[in-house]
Order: sequence, then C-alpha cells, then structure tokens
Amino acid sequence: MKIYKEEKHRTIIEATEAELNELKNKSINDPWKPNYHIHPEFGLLNDPNGLAYYKGKYRLFHQWYPFGVTHGMKHWAQLESEDLVNWKRAGVALTPTETYESHGAYSGTSIEIDGKLYLYYTGNIKLGKEERSANQCLAIMNEDGKVHKYGNNPLILGVPEGYTGHVRDPKVFKKDNNYYMILGAQRLDETGTFIMYKSVDGLEWTFLGELSLENFDNNFGYMWECPDYINIDGKDVLIFSPQGIDPVENKYHNIFNVVYIIGKFDVENLKFIVKSYDEFDAGFDFYAPQSFKGKMNQPLLFAWAGMGEFKAPTDCNLWANCLTFPRELSINEDKLYQLPAKELELLRDNEVNNSGIANERIKISNDNNCYELDLTIDSLEANKFGLEFLVSEEEKLTLTFNKDNNSVILDRSNMVHQYAEEYGNVRETKIKSFDKINVKALVDNSIIEIFINNGEKAFTSRIFPLEDSKGVEIFTDSEIKYSYSKYSLKKGI
Ligand code: FRU
Repeated sequence: MKIYKEEKHRTIIEATEAELNELKNKSINDPWKPNYHIHPEFGLLNDPNGLAYYKGKYRLFHQWYPFGVTHGMKHWAQLESEDLVNWKRAGVALTPTETYESHGAYSGTSIEIDGKLYLYYTGNIKLGKEERSANQCLAIMNEDGKVHKYGNNPLILGVPEGYTGHVRDPKVFKKDNNYYMILGAQRLDETGTFIMYKSVDGLEWTFLGELSLENFDNNFGYMWECPDYINIDGKDVLIFSPQGIDPVENKYHNIFNVVYIIGKFDVENLKFIVKSYDEFDAGFDFYAPQSFKGKMNQPLLFAWAGMGEFKAPTDCNLWANCLTFPRELSINEDKLYQLPAKELELLRDNEVNNSGIANERIKISNDNNCYELDLTIDSLEANKFGLEFLVSEEEKLTLTFNKDNNSVILDRSNMVHQYAEEYGNVRETKIKSFDKINVKALVDNSIIEIFINNGEKAFTSRIFPLEDSKGVEIFTDSEIKYSYSKYSLKKGI
C-alpha cells in the first residue's frame, strides 16, 4: 500500500549533518530565544509530553518538528534536569520511523511500571490530506535512561467504532490494581469527548467506553485534546484542551482553550462528578498542559505557551514556540492555584528590593528582559493602578487592576510586533479581593507569565519586544503602598 506523504512528513534521520547545522546556525542568535524557558534549538515545539521524575532526574519530552515552523512530522525531543530548572537537551527519544506511526509520534504521558518508565503516545496516521486514523503506542525508558519502542506496537490499533480518526493523547494512570487510559476523542457527530481503556499490565488494553462528566456540558466543542488527570490533596483534577468552544464572558477567547475540572473520578462507573471548573489560564498563549508529581511528590505542570498555527517574528529564523515555566499546583476552596515551581529560586541573581508610598509613576530599574518581579500593592486610595512591562518610546505591555469591578486586564495592543491579534490583544479576568494585591511576573525575552494573588489567576503571553524595550513601571491614579523584589534570572537551558 502506498503511504500518503507530503514534504513535511520527513524524519530527522533523513537529514544530513550539514542541513542540521544550517538549521542550528540560523536560529542560534535570535534575540527572542528564552533563557530559562524550554524551547527548541531549532524547528517547532508544541505540547510537553511524558513528564516524570524518574531515577533521580526530571524527564521532559516535547512535540518537535525539526525542519521549520510548520506542524509536520512530529518527533519526541528529550530533555533532562536534576533540579527542574537547569535543563540539558538529550536528543530525540522518538523518531516516527514505523508504519504504525507513519505521520508522527503524537502526544502522550508516562507512568512508572515495574521500575521502568512507560511512555504512551499516539501514532498518527494520515490516509489522505484530510482523512486520518490513530494507533496508541508504547515506548519504554529503562533504568539507564535509554528509550526503546515496544516490540508489539501498536497497543491499540485504530479507533473504536463511533469515533472519527481524531483519537489521541493517552493519559495513563493507576487505580487500585488496574491501569486506565483516557484519550481525547471526537464522536462521529463531530463533538468532543473522552474515551477510556483498562489494563492489568499496561500492555493489553480493553475498551471501556466514554467518560461521562456529571454536571457538565458533554457537548462542549468539536474535539477534546490532551486529557490530563492528577490527584491534589485528595481531590481529583481533570485538565483538557477543548477545541471549538464559544467564549463565555471574559473566558475562552483564544482560538483553543484549556479547562480544569475539580471533582471526584468514579473510574469504575466511567463518571467524573464535577464540583467546579474554570479556564486554566487567563492569558493568550497556553495549551496542552500536562501535570506530574515531582521529586517531593509535589504536583507540577508544564504547558505549551502557544497554540494553533500563528505567524511569529521568529519564523524567519526557523524556530517556534516554548513551554511555560514549571508551575506548582494547589487547590483552595475548589479553585486551582498555580505558581512558578519553588526551584525558580535557584536561578535568582542580583536581588533588588524597594518599598514606599506613591501616588504617581515609579520606575523600577531594569536592564535585561530575563527577570522575576515580585510586587505587593496595598491599593489605599487608588481605584486604577498596575504595571507596565517592556516599556520604550515605541511600546509597552500593560497590566491594569480596576478596583471598581474587581478586574485585571492584560493588554498587549501597544506592542509593535503583534501576535495572534486576530483573536484580540486584550484579556480580562476577575479576582476575589483587592485588599492587598501581589503580582509575580516572570519575563524571559519572548514570554511573560504573570501570577496574581498567590496564584489565584495566571496570564501567559508571548511577547516580541524591540531591543530597547526594557522599562518596568508602576502606575496609579491615587495613593498606593508598594514593595517589590526583583531578580535577574540565570540561564536554565
Ligand atoms: C495538541 C495536539 C495534540 C497532538 C499534538 C500533535 O496541541 O494537537 O492533540 O497529539 O498536538 O503535535
């Protein structure tokens, strides 16, 4: 049988050394490459995959197309770290060379079984330009850190009856003595859902059916990608990336969005009883997140700080996208809180502290765009106040707090290089209390992550500032009390 192929369906082993060197050299000096956010050396990165702390190291993989900034043949690129913040590139873990993965090694997750790290992923199959199928596959990392594809792949051939070829992104977890796999799927009527399989050994899988979300709209969008499940302090959390959902007030304004659900996973009855749910991140660029437990068993998460296929100013240098900084998750009153992982402290350098009372603009001294800013504001008399980042004569990024309606607004409309502007360049969210505001901002050349009120809300945004746009300023319409610490952050990758 002739396999459908396009130019972009090419693996890295078909490239010459010279071609790869050319790709490397083209992107190496791009000023927007992050310093401590995981990004591709060249080519296109998307979802984080297979995250684990295994045999004394953090293991991270990501979707990777080496030959440019299109979504072509996806490989799993590999990185490792001892401390979660200093990363080493460790080559390509999965190159899609087999017929059961003829059009890419798509996303998946990992779990330790019998001392080995099982990496579950989707073998993407294209039957034509539009038509597709999917196989669920396994690769195993041994104790020595080497990854081998399982000899009896695929574990699950094709898709079950009732679903289109869009079935992918296995999340595997253990409950009692069984393993369960949740997959993102699309029904034949083009609505999104999850389907589940069960196994006693992680190798032989039996189809169970659809997972029903109780107290939730089960016809939510046309495809649910990247299911993720974690238990945090006894509460079950389901995280996923639905496509095709409509905005609701301030939420879900991106082309694709991410939702978390807190409740109870009744695995035996294929039910998830939903207690609360919300948009995961209030910013512009956040998708396909994946959680895992860290060295101290702490709940961690990485996401792709991007989505879809937008043109970026870095495209001309043939690299695209980055991951978020790792976030530590917690739950408070059935809401998910997220903050940068504590290991961030290991990257800190040059601490500057300041505090005072002000009723006009304050400039925070800054000479590079790789820093952490921790700011506390007591709003006193002020109704409208906030922060400007990346300030120069030509541009700025503005974070505004409006006490009148408890809202926080991130506005990137005043940046010279716009990104995904067809989906708007302003995002708004609400916070519970304005008594004392705290903001933790991580800036890293072409990405900013902002955490408000100890992680009650987060905004992730790519940014492409001009070379001289480095100013940081606090503004206010009346008296505020402020204090801040600022640190330069060292290179982590
Ligand atoms: C999400 C996604 C996944 C898929 C992967 C392919 O961004 O579309 O559903 O496995 O990317 O790269």
